[in-house]
Amino acid sequence: MKIIITGATGRMGKALAAAAEKDAAVEVAAFVSPEFTTTDETHCLQLADFAGEADCVVDFSHHAATAALLDYCVERRLPVVIATTGQTEEELALINEAAKKIPVFRSANMSLGVAFLRQIAKKAAALFPDADVEIVETHHNQKLDAPSGTALMLGNAILEARPEAELTFGRSGFGKRNKNEVGIQAVRMGNQVGTHSVYIDTGAETITLTHTANDRSLFADGALQAAKYLLGKAPGLYDMRGLVE
Ligand SMILES: NC(=O)c1ccc[n+]([C@@H]2O[C@H](COP(=O)([O-])OP(=O)(O)OC[C@H]3O[C@@H](n4cnc5c(N)ncnc54)[C@H](O)[C@@H]3O)[C@@H](O)[C@H]2O)c1
Repeated sequence: MKIIITGATGRMGKALAAAAEKDAAVEVAAFVSPEFTTTDETHCLQLADFAGEADCVVDFSHHAATAALLDYCVERRLPVVIATTGQTEEELALINEAAKKIPVFRSANMSLGVAFLRQIAKKAAALFPDADVEIVETHHNQKLDAPSGTALMLGNAILEARPEAELTFGRSGFGKRNKNEVGIQAVRMGNQVGTHSVYIDTGAETITLTHTANDRSLFADGALQAAKYLLGKAPGLYDMRGLVE
């Protein structure tokens, strides 16, 4: 399978290239990043500069590149794995439109472990309907978006179990916690790869579900799995549920 890596000079782009190097079934057809200081046939500043053969684009770049990414993939009928987070509502609408024409795999977290955490957090929220649910995420101090896309994904999974609830970001000022709040707190420090904890507190007991990413290779491996999963799929929107269920 030949993949194109967008965001190739970033932390995740490099981790993905390293994972692809170790996988005999994967070849990197092109590396794309606006940060390249020199370019050639396989190192491009933008996707539109690459006209060679490929089976899938794997995107770990910046949400502002979403429209150009989708234009390229739709034009070339290429499946795309969108691992980038932080998309605006408009960009999410573009993703949904594109998924009518090409297979699109989108997940704010490419880890199978986080997909499992999502499942059990949703189950716990349903099993203890009166419990307070709080989500705390911790990432490195260079991360651009807060809260993390994964924390939002976990929060939205809780809302599937509790339609009356609403997400609350950060907390300050006066006033008691609203019963229907699902709080999300973002911590930024050091080199932390990413930790997500979901607390389910009934008053009498506290259940703590925590996933800790120790190495970025975790997300790169998951993204390659997603790219393989997309091959031969019909147009549509796919996510980690397809891989774990
Ligand atoms: N889904 C997951 O499992 C997962 C895991 C880790 C990170 N991420 C997300 O992946 C993205 C990249 O993370 P990172 O830590 O590698 O970031 P990074 O800042 O290290 O790298 C970003 C890359 O994108 C490129 N880029 C920046 N702005 C761009 C633009 N406007 N157009 C095109 N390219 C642009 C940069 O040149 C660089 O190559 C972020 O959105 C991050 O939240 C997702």
